[in-house]
Amino acid sequence: MKHESWDELAVALQSRLTPATKLRREEPLAPKTTLRVGGAARLYAEPASVADLQTLVQTAGTRQIPLFVLGRGSNLLVPDEGVDGLVVSLAHESWVVFESRPNGRVWAGAGLRLKNLCGLAAKAGLVGFEFLEGIPGSVGGALRMNAGAMGGWMFDVVEEVQVMRLNGEVLLLPRTDLHVQYRYCAELQETIALGALLRPVAHADMAAVTRQIDGYRRKRQESQPREPSAGCMFKNPPGNSAGRLIDEVGLKGERVGDAEVSRVHANFIVNRGAASAADVLELVRRVRARVRELKQVDLEPEVLLYGKPWKDVL
Ligand code: EPU
Repeated sequence: MKHESWDELAVALQSRLTPATKLRREEPLAPKTTLRVGGAARLYAEPASVADLQTLVQTAGTRQIPLFVLGRGSNLLVPDEGVDGLVVSLAHESWVVFESRPNGRVWAGAGLRLKNLCGLAAKAGLVGFEFLEGIPGSVGGALRMNAGAMGGWMFDVVEEVQVMRLNGEVLLLPRTDLHVQYRYCAELQETIALGALLRPVAHADMAAVTRQIDGYRRKRQESQPREPSAGCMFKNPPGNSAGRLIDEVGLKGERVGDAEVSRVHANFIVNRGAASAADVLELVRRVRARVRELKQVDLEPEVLLYGKPWKDVL
């Protein structure tokens, strides 16, 4: 699509959205990701309400514009050329919600950061959210990816998820209707998670929950790098560890431009300053080739690539 067409679409959309909704042309995405690489979104929106989100997804549908949902940007690789589509982020405060519900349950909006969910749950003495400490994600992204750490994953605490279909319809999906696997939820691939009803495992006092969180924090600080990264680059193959495999084939410190296989944890590719998406992709190809050659294992990326399927670039 030409520049003028994107401009025209932006103008048409703006007239149908409330002023509280932010809409931008050529919004740089690198600062919105934890890896800090990649280009701009042709169109970018932060809807302030369900109605505005409906307008955005329905317009993308009728105009056949690819739609991307941006969470905290922590498990994401944006290509250098940017994204030919509409990127929607639920960063507006109306999605940043943590509300008590009956029987100790809580409602968490898609835009709430996991760090804040973890902290608020601890304050309320809710047990079961501690593993979220340090996962640099939002509730929406964590639902879509079934994010996990420290032996737990998101769907351990989910009772139901509110989603928007790409036709704008909003519905509640109970946990029992969802097909959940390691880093995957089938029903959330083609829908947008708006929020979830979460159920704590138990109740305890704040100090006990905080001790557990501190333990996880120390473990993470010892075993994971501090530099910008997209978290773990590859899924763990069944019964194996991607980090250990990459380490064993001697790739810690391997570098393409400013992209480097972390010396702390080999399943992290870190940005040493000015890495490009092309650097990261070249390094991903190198890692996969070496692990395939020496270990006969095909590593599958966990990180999402915006705008094209991984198989087209590997
Ligand atoms: N290991 C090495 N060398 C390395 C890295 C790891 O030998 O460079 C070994 C470790 O010593 C350990 C094993 O590999 O024996 C597993 O490592 P670790 O405990 O760090 O866990 P992981 O399987 O590599 C998973 C998740 C992380 C999550 C951690 C902590 C995946 C792909 N990774 O890592 O999630 O934070 O457990 O619970 O599932 C993510 O998904 O982005 C992510 C970072």
